Amino acid sequence: MTRLVFVKLGGSVITDKGQPETARPAVIARLAGEIATALASDPDLRMVLGHGSGSFGHVSAGHYRTRQGVRTDADWRGFAQVAAVAARLNRLVVDALLAAGVPAWSLQPSASARCREGELESLEVAPIEEALSHGLVPLVYGDVALDDVQGATIISTEQIFGFLARQLNPTQIVLVGVVDGVYEQDPLRVPSAPHIPQITAENWAQVRRQLGGSYATDVTGGMLSKVEEMVGLVHDLPGLAVLLMSGERAGALRTALLAPDQLDRGTRIHQI
Ligand code: IPE
Repeated sequence: MTRLVFVKLGGSVITDKGQPETARPAVIARLAGEIATALASDPDLRMVLGHGSGSFGHVSAGHYRTRQGVRTDADWRGFAQVAAVAARLNRLVVDALLAAGVPAWSLQPSASARCREGELESLEVAPIEEALSHGLVPLVYGDVALDDVQGATIISTEQIFGFLARQLNPTQIVLVGVVDGVYEQDPLRVPSAPHIPQITAENWAQVRRQLGGSYATDVTGGMLSKVEEMVGLVHDLPGLAVLLMSGERAGALRTALLAPDQLDRGTRIHQI
C-alpha cells in the first residue's frame, strides 16, 4: 500500500536569512539527495514537496506589505515582484531536485489559488493528483495569491499544505527548518530554551501561550501560525502525524522519511 508524505523545506534552511536573495545551494542539494534516497529505498512512498521563501520572498513581501492587501498600482507592481522572487528560488530548488534524481514538477500556487482575507479557500488539486499518479513529485511553494476581499495576499507553504492535506489525506507532514522543532522560546535568541518534543491536546494551550510571547513573526506569521495551522490539521485528520525538525544534520530528513520513530529529535504534533 502506498503512503503519501508532504515535506516542506523551510525558507530558514534553504536560504541565508541574513542576506537578501541568497540561497544555500549545498544544503538544498544535500536535502534533495536525502529525498531521492528515501524515494529510491521505499517504492511505496509518494511525496508532495513544498518550500518556503526565506530571504527571497519574505524580504520583498515585507517591503511591499503584500500580505496586508494589494490595492494601488504600486502595490500590484510589488505583487508581481514578490511572485518573481519566490519563483526564482523555486527554480533553484526544482533544478536541484531533478539533478538529484527526484522527478519533481513545479506547480505555481498563485496560478490557481484564491483567498478570502488571507485564508486560502481554493487551489487546483487535479494536476497534483495526476502528477502523483504518474510517479512525479509535485512541488509547491510559498507564493503570492489573489484574494477576493483584499486584492491579493501571501500564502505560506503551511497554508497550501493545509488545503491539500484535506483533499489528499497524507499520513505524515514533515516541516524541515533550521532548528529542531519547537522550543518554549526562540532557540535562535535564547539558546537555553527548553525543547518541546510533543504537542498534543494536553499541552497545546500552554505551548500556544509560550510561542505567542517569545517568537518573532515574519510576513506569514512565524512559528505560532505555522504550529496553529498544523494543530488544526491534525485535529481534522486524526490519522496524520506532523514532524517539525532540523535539516542541518546530514541524514536526518532521510531517517524522518524512512524510519520516523528512529529520529530522536524534532517536535511531533499528534492526537489533538
Ligand atoms: C512565504 O512562504 C512566501 C513568501 C513570502 C512569498 P513560507 O511562509 O512558506 O516561507 P518560509 O518557510 O517562512 O520562508
